[in-house]
Amino acid sequence: MKSTQNNNERAIFATKFGAIATTVGSAVGLGNIWRFPYEAGIHGGGAFMICYLAFVFLIGIPVLCSEFIMGRGTRSNIFGAYRKLRPDHNWHLAGYIGILASILILSFYSVVAGWTIEYCLSSLFGQLKFSNTEIGHGQFIELTTGWRPVIWTVIFLACNFFILIGGVTKGIERASNILMPLLFLLLIAFCINSFTLPGFKEGVKFLFHPDFSKITPSVLLGALGQAFFSLSLGLGCMMTYASYFNNDNRLGKTAVTTAVLDSLVAILAGIIIFPAVFSFGLSPEAGPTLVFEVLPYIFSKLPGGAIWSTLFFLLLFLASLTSTVSMSEISITYFCEEKRWSRKKSTVVSSLIGLAGGLICALSFGPLSDFTIFGMTFFSLFDYLSSNICLPVGGMICSIFTGWFIDRKFVKTQMTDNGKYRFPMLRPLVFCLRWVCPTAIFLIFLNSIGII
Ligand code: PHE
Repeated sequence: MKSTQNNNERAIFATKFGAIATTVGSAVGLGNIWRFPYEAGIHGGGAFMICYLAFVFLIGIPVLCSEFIMGRGTRSNIFGAYRKLRPDHNWHLAGYIGILASILILSFYSVVAGWTIEYCLSSLFGQLKFSNTEIGHGQFIELTTGWRPVIWTVIFLACNFFILIGGVTKGIERASNILMPLLFLLLIAFCINSFTLPGFKEGVKFLFHPDFSKITPSVLLGALGQAFFSLSLGLGCMMTYASYFNNDNRLGKTAVTTAVLDSLVAILAGIIIFPAVFSFGLSPEAGPTLVFEVLPYIFSKLPGGAIWSTLFFLLLFLASLTSTVSMSEISITYFCEEKRWSRKKSTVVSSLIGLAGGLICALSFGPLSDFTIFGMTFFSLFDYLSSNICLPVGGMICSIFTGWFIDRKFVKTQMTDNGKYRFPMLRPLVFCLRWVCPTAIFLIFLNSIGII
């Protein structure tokens, strides 16, 4: 797939499919397959699921549209977009929240992505055990404590660096086009396998049967954070990607397609994990280690389990790469376009910052495991701060800005591709951006700190 350059030297995705595949490539990653099941597990299953889906559709899609409008309309990174649209104000400072969030996320995300490499290679070389007596928590601890996660985190970040240094559209676009459909097929195959497990009914009930009494402030905040995290929202990532869209990309359609596919992958992951959890007598509340403890049980029941396991962790590793590449773009484009550094220097500096954060998080599973702040290790703290605070705050600012401070005509021009397509949802979109998204996010914050 070729990419084109426009006159101000910004690369443009060559096709609509390429743009969607890349956007979905950013959205689909560990957030769906690792984070969604563990968050759903600790927050009561169905109660979490219903809040998460409501937030994706009521808040996620409108905020995604607003990032698309700002990104493609200005062809800039998050700083430039705010500045071009309101040069006389300080809205662009929201960009710093985006940069902070992207660094925090890259730091803990690389650790988990490092586990995927470890699990992939261990399956390939026959070291991952698939017999019921030996697997589970013990095996996870064996593979991921001490200094080992540090090595895998560094290796993962090195892979991320080499992709980034190759430029935006080439590597990423090509990889996502092949990768995402393959991962999707594999998830469907594992999902079908779930039907055969004895705990299928119980697992599906846990995930889809909402017990409304379990909707607590922490469930609401967790589901909101998950919706933002999973859609790569609130930090300017989708804004930066939209700045590479061509002028004939129906933004509303791209936003809905991305949200639907992304939620579908999360739901598939839930259908794979929870029946296994109940079949093998495990606890859904294991936290961040859940998926890595449960998957070997699933593979142990499949003929050729090691092959499935290798393939699955390989694809998960690659899906993580398409996500980390997108979050790294935020600081890289900031340095390139705001500081006027070369792309090479920007990539090196961004990667070094990510490396420092990654090392701190990796050590949370070894020498720094006893060091906690507010009862959280660095790993959990970085996750909590970025997903539950920075992203929703960034999204709230973006939605207020698009709803109240951008000329309605500009919004219309973007959503209709300059009048080429009809977009009958303009009014509801603006209503959501003005009222629903900011109010909902604000109330969830107040609720989580106990004010309402
Ligand atoms: N959405 C990605 C995932 O689900 C994570 C991500 C968050 C990527 C923020 C970019 C920005 O894995």
